[in-house]
Amino acid sequence: MKRDPRLRDLSSDHHQALVLARHVSREPEWSAALGEALAARFEQELEPHFHIEEELLLPALRSAGEAELALRTQREHDTLRSLVRQAAEGSAVAARDFAELLTLHVRFEERQLFPTCETALNDAELDAVATRTAERQHS
Ligand SMILES: [Fe+2]
Ligand SMILES: [Fe+2]
Repeated sequence: MKRDPRLRDLSSDHHQALVLARHVSREPEWSAALGEALAARFEQELEPHFHIEEELLLPALRSAGEAELALRTQREHDTLRSLVRQAAEGSAVAARDFAELLTLHVRFEERQLFPTCETALNDAELDAVATRTAERQHS
């Protein structure tokens, strides 16, 4: 699908997230060491992405009358944060659930959330996303 160029950086993060999820799901034996490495990557790569979505996309969606989509996104972010903490303590079940939910979350955003953002958000709101993702790359 053709993505609005202002959402493209976030979309390419999604590809990285899918690679990470596949990686985690294929670990034959989970450990706290793997969990800590995952938590570090989460902090570095996924948290900044979640923040942009939570600070720019979700408020704009709520004011556009798409509160339900915003709520689902926020809930999944919160669940992913909690699963990563448990995976970092060595929980293999949490690691598997994290990989599964991350994959579903990316699909949901690509198929529902971003297409809705493209139609429901105004230019100023989409421009703000482009500015934030560009800043991130230069920092
Ligand atoms: Fe996302
Ligand atoms: Fe997200």
